Amino acid sequence: MASSSGIESILHENRIFPPAPEFSAAAHVKTMAEYEALCRRADQDPEAFWESVARELHWFQPWTKVLEWNAPFAKWFNGGKINLSYNCLDRHLSTARRNKAAIIWESEPGEVVTLTYQQLHGEVCRFTNVLKSAGVNTGDRVAIYMGMSPALPIAMLACARLGAPHTVVFGGFSAVALADRIQDCRASCVITQDGAIRRGAELKLKAIVDEALLSCPTVKRAIVYRRTGSPQQMQPGRDLWWHEEMSRASDECEALPLDAEHPLYLLYTSGTTGKPKGILHTTGGYSVGTYATTKWVFDLKETDVYWCTADIGWVTGHSYLVYGPLQNGATVLMYEGAPFTPTPDRFWIMIDKHKVNVFYTAPTAIRSFMRLGDEHPRKYAMKSLRLLGSVGEPINPEAWMWYRDVIGRNRCPIVDTWWQTETGAIMISPLPGATPTKPGSATRPLPGIAADVVDREGNPVPPGSGGFLVVKKPWPSMLRTIYGDPERFRQTYFSQIPGIYFTGDGARKDSDGYFWVMGRIDDVLNVSGHRLSTMEVESALVAHPKVAEAAVVGRPDEIKGQALAAFVTLQAGVPATNELKDELRAWVAKEIGAMARPDDIRFSEALPKTRSGKIMRRLLREVATGAEVKGDVTTLEDFNVISKLRAQEEE
Ligand code: WT7
Repeated sequence: MASSSGIESILHENRIFPPAPEFSAAAHVKTMAEYEALCRRADQDPEAFWESVARELHWFQPWTKVLEWNAPFAKWFNGGKINLSYNCLDRHLSTARRNKAAIIWESEPGEVVTLTYQQLHGEVCRFTNVLKSAGVNTGDRVAIYMGMSPALPIAMLACARLGAPHTVVFGGFSAVALADRIQDCRASCVITQDGAIRRGAELKLKAIVDEALLSCPTVKRAIVYRRTGSPQQMQPGRDLWWHEEMSRASDECEALPLDAEHPLYLLYTSGTTGKPKGILHTTGGYSVGTYATTKWVFDLKETDVYWCTADIGWVTGHSYLVYGPLQNGATVLMYEGAPFTPTPDRFWIMIDKHKVNVFYTAPTAIRSFMRLGDEHPRKYAMKSLRLLGSVGEPINPEAWMWYRDVIGRNRCPIVDTWWQTETGAIMISPLPGATPTKPGSATRPLPGIAADVVDREGNPVPPGSGGFLVVKKPWPSMLRTIYGDPERFRQTYFSQIPGIYFTGDGARKDSDGYFWVMGRIDDVLNVSGHRLSTMEVESALVAHPKVAEAAVVGRPDEIKGQALAAFVTLQAGVPATNELKDELRAWVAKEIGAMARPDDIRFSEALPKTRSGKIMRRLLREVATGAEVKGDVTTLEDFNVISKLRAQEEE
């Protein structure tokens, strides 16, 4: 079904699952009529709608203007004073939540640590004082490079308390990638840990920080949390032990009233060109967005145990492991390690052990569980589960049905939540007590979110046709800019259709107004839920002295969603060997991180190019998939290239 956007949609799915009446009866939003009334209210007067949501949080001082919109620049709740750490912690201390578990942490070896709201508050206050005495001031950037230890949310909440924007760098990134990010935001402090435990092994994070800091002169302090106890080289004058500083610090520290638009954090994400973009979120709007969406979508109850399996290094961990649930006073389960360690049923054991009620994970994980076999989850009762969530990429209907049946026992609604690092919070998702779900569809936009599917000119496409997923009005948790590069921000998100937010995803709407997100339309790949730019992997490859040229494309992969296929032209005289393939894979892992390691590498004397010299990626994608190369090749400069590429079998 082609449309003027040139995007075709082939997936058609007719099954529909209404929420169970018992679930709806107890839900925050109980019917489609209620959902639609909320949408109408938000549509007619968006500012009044968001203002009423914002009032549920604590403000030190009310805002004077709900929205100032000088497209593409938004200011929400301007004049208001707020602190996200206060809303996550202090606000609960005058209630019975004071002694409720805020975080239940389980290590990979199986140790369990529980922090009540009161205890978490004390630790966060203490660490805020540590940051202050380490010379970190309001407005200074702090890089956090840690594993999934309880110190990580404590560090984030302390930064938020002080108004020192954090940038959490996923522990799988290399020293080079870490240094790039630190340099881009000129961080003055790094928080790390000696090592992180994964699959029984230690990943030595502090050593990677040491390597990165060789090229980061802005960093004056590194604070090191002791997790594994492995011996460390502490650099005098720069490095401090977390536990030593904490033992000296007071557990009292008032939360600072910050401007609603005070920068909260930066999170780097891949784009089509150039270096990673520092997505900037600010305090007030992000707080409102994550608070409200957590409440609506996960329908949290006071007694729930909520488990989001995402790593805090990604936006899902920021919004739905830390900030959204804690603002809602939830009990959050946090797991340190790998999903199949020591056995393939680790997650299901944990669900029964901690009596998890709400479980939020990614399609790539669901597909891995499917492949491991039903017998593992079937061994466990999992009676506590009442709601399942999915995020990160389109979930294929087969995986959706398996999730519903084998994990949810056909009893739990599934919320397939579409959003992005840039949107800060969930944008399109079922409300579990109201929305009838269809396997593979994120269903409809949340109240206040003006999402649509349009053609190149910005006109809505008819139901069933593919087009570009856009958001037509500003929303509180939207990114404010790309750090240090407002022009790139405008270009990337607001130039295709002026004034309208361009997501970079293709989608279609069906005749019920349900959205079916088809994935990226640009050169950004989604590998196991990690957003990677083909361009970054290409730059890493050509930086290798033996490589002349490289093109990277995605090919479908049953488990990872997409796999990375690299086509490489070597410098003259360099022999194409399997050892070199391994060397290049290791090289990319070192330059970016293990998740960017190419799955396939093919050497080629030349790459298929148009006469104007552009690499014809569409052809490469067809070669990588093993599909017949068809379609228009009339602009191809050298027809032999394709047959040579195809003749070469990937080992
Ligand atoms: C991209 C954003 C959202 C947090 C994790 C990823 C894809 C995400 C879905 C979904 C279809 C999805 C999109 C989006 N995506 N969720 N439910 N259905 N696609 O954040 O790294 O910023 O990636 O992930 O392509 O643009 P991110």
